[in-house]
Amino acid sequence: MSERMKYKVAVVTGAASGIGQAIALRLAAEGAAIAALDVSEAGLKETVEKIAAVGGHAKAYALDISNATAVDATAKAILADFGKVTTLVNNAGIFDNHLTLLETDEALWDRIIAVDLKGIYLLCKALLPALQASGNATIVNLSSIAGVVAHGGGLAYTAAKHGVIGLTKSIAADYGPAVRCNAVLPGAVMTAMTEKVFAKGQGNAAVLEAISGSPAGRYAQPEELANAVLFLASDEASFVYGAQLVVDGGWTAV
Ligand SMILES: NC(=O)c1ccc[n+]([C@@H]2O[C@H](COP(=O)([O-])OP(=O)(O)OC[C@H]3O[C@@H](n4cnc5c(N)ncnc54)[C@H](O)[C@@H]3O)[C@@H](O)[C@H]2O)c1
Repeated sequence: MSERMKYKVAVVTGAASGIGQAIALRLAAEGAAIAALDVSEAGLKETVEKIAAVGGHAKAYALDISNATAVDATAKAILADFGKVTTLVNNAGIFDNHLTLLETDEALWDRIIAVDLKGIYLLCKALLPALQASGNATIVNLSSIAGVVAHGGGLAYTAAKHGVIGLTKSIAADYGPAVRCNAVLPGAVMTAMTEKVFAKGQGNAAVLEAISGSPAGRYAQPEELANAVLFLASDEASFVYGAQLVVDGGWTAV
C-alpha cells in the first residue's frame, strides 16, 4: 500500500460499479479510508469487500443522492463513523442515451438533472462544513466531455455535465484555499453505463467512429480515470483549483 492518501477520509459516490468503484479502490490503495455511496447495496458490498481484501478500510452507505433528506442523514452518519471528511468525489451519474431535445420528455430531464447535477450540489452542501474543518480538503466532480461539447451525450446529460463545470468553478472560487474543487472530464470509458453504446455491430455508430478516430483510438478502462481523480484528490495537485482535467484519449482535441 502506498501513502498518497494517508490520513484522508474520502467519500466516493457511485462507488458500486464502473469508474466509482475503480476510484474507491485506488484511493483506498493509497491509504484513504473510504465512505462508499450508491443506490446499489449489492455493488457496495462488492466494493467494500474488494477494499478489505487488500487491507483497506471502507464502509457502505446506500442512498439516492438526489434525495436531500437521505444525503443529509448519510453525511451525519459518515461523520459519526469516521470523525472527519477530507475528500469528496462526486462520481454517481446516469446517462440519457444520446436523446435529443424532442426525444427528451420532462420526466427524463428532471431525473438526469436531479442525479447528475442536483445530487452533486446536495453532497457538496451537506459535507462542506466538514471539508472546511479538515483544513486541506478536495472535491473532485465527474463531469464529462459532454460538459464542454455536444454529442458526448443527449440534451439533458449535456446540460447537466456543463452545469457540473459551473458548480465546480463556483465552489473553487468561493471556498478556496481550504477546499480545492476540480472536475474530471472522461471521454469514452467501458462501464455498465456505456457497454451498449460501445457494443460491436449494435452500438452508437457516431460514438464508435469518434473513439476510433481519436488519438488514443480506443475507449478507456475505469482505472485510467481513477488515476486522474487520485492526482486531483492528492496533495500533489496543491495548486490546482477549478480545473477541468480532460481524460478522453484526445477525442475533443481533434
Ligand atoms: N463511462 C463513460 O464513458 C463516461 C464518460 C463520461 C463521464 N462519465 C461519468 O462518470 C461517472 C461514472 O459513470 P460510470 O461510467 O462508472 O457509470 P456506472 O453506471 O458504471 O456507475 C454509476 C454508478 O452511480 C450509481 N448511481 C446512479 N444513480 C444514483 C443515485 N441516484 N444515487 C446514488 N448512486 C447512483 C449507480 O448505481 C452506479 O453504481 C458518471 O458521472 C458518468 O456520467 C462516464
